[in-house]
Amino acid sequence: MTTYAQAVQTIRRHLPLEDMADDLRPLVHYATLAASSHNTQPWRFRCERRRIVIRPDLARRCPVVDPDDHHLFVSLGCALENLLQAARAAGFQGHMDFDAASSETRVELEVAPVERSALFEAIPRRQCTRSEYDGRALTTGELQLLEQAGRGEGVSVHLLSDRRARDKVAEHVAEGNRLQFANPAWKSELREWLRYSAAEAIARGDGLYGPVMGSPSAPRWLGSLATRFALSAGAQNRRDVEGIRRSGAIAVFVSEADDPRHWLEAGRCYQRLALQATVLGIAHAFINQPVEVAALRGRFTEAFGVGGARVDLVLRLGRGPTMPASLRRPVESVIDVPG
Ligand SMILES: Cc1cc2nc3c(=O)[nH]c(=O)nc-3n(C[C@H](O)[C@H](O)[C@H](O)COP(=O)(O)O)c2cc1C
Repeated sequence: MTTYAQAVQTIRRHLPLEDMADDLRPLVHYATLAASSHNTQPWRFRCERRRIVIRPDLARRCPVVDPDDHHLFVSLGCALENLLQAARAAGFQGHMDFDAASSETRVELEVAPVERSALFEAIPRRQCTRSEYDGRALTTGELQLLEQAGRGEGVSVHLLSDRRARDKVAEHVAEGNRLQFANPAWKSELREWLRYSAAEAIARGDGLYGPVMGSPSAPRWLGSLATRFALSAGAQNRRDVEGIRRSGAIAVFVSEADDPRHWLEAGRCYQRLALQATVLGIAHAFINQPVEVAALRGRFTEAFGVGGARVDLVLRLGRGPTMPASLRRPVESVIDVPG
């Protein structure tokens, strides 16, 4: 029987890229190691000769937490960034083109010198780490590297490290928790993506497994009973407020325009920043509550003077203990066979 740790090792690994010939599946493997909202992995890939097409898997939408598909497109952007990093490591320059009408992103692969960057090397290790960090500030040099990695076309990243800003972020996150936990539809959507036991997490290869989130592993009946009581704004706030207080910095991603093209770009920016953080030994976790609740988004923008048309994502960064990593579905299950 495969243990959870073995399943993680099998999924989160480097693949040989030297003799790929016309088989582009190894690039898709790297794309699938990207972050995605609730670990929904809302992507489908079509491999053609020297071209990969990425399209949204609308069956994996989360209409309550993500009614306009913002997070879905951000997740596709995360996968796209990994794909482009892996393409360079395989000796291709990827040229991307997003078609707003079909929501498809085409990546044309042009032969180029092999470039195995530090960001590429970090792809299997990058993960969201929801542990408590040690409260140490990040250095100016680290903040500069993170800012360079996290900015893109029409997307900027603001790194807030002073104490007052962090306290203010914590207030907004707590308000977001209060509103989200008061919404039964939001809770029931979240529950659909919870995976309680290792066997269930391995069989599904997606969703949020208890120990990854800091909860124990349990049989489904017990886990679902326990979360009925444990899923509360109060419990979440205690974790989040302390988590934010003990972070070294907060990252806020902002798009100049509020449309899928920019959401895709915001995903690429997050993924690069997260890979750069991994290279530096810095952990991160999302604290998106204040930007997921539409009514709070405007207030958050004003409170921090971050401008832009859409605050996309909020993260806490710092150093702390690692947590179990999340799984993915096998590459074969996300590839469309060309018709
Ligand atoms: C757009 C987006 C929004 C997310 N929002 C949250 C969030 O609010 N809270 C959280 O704990 N994780 C959040 N995540 C992290 C995902 O749950 C995580 O990427 C997924 O479970 C896979 O795990 P990994 O990133 O560690 O590989 C988000 C990820 C994305 C891409």
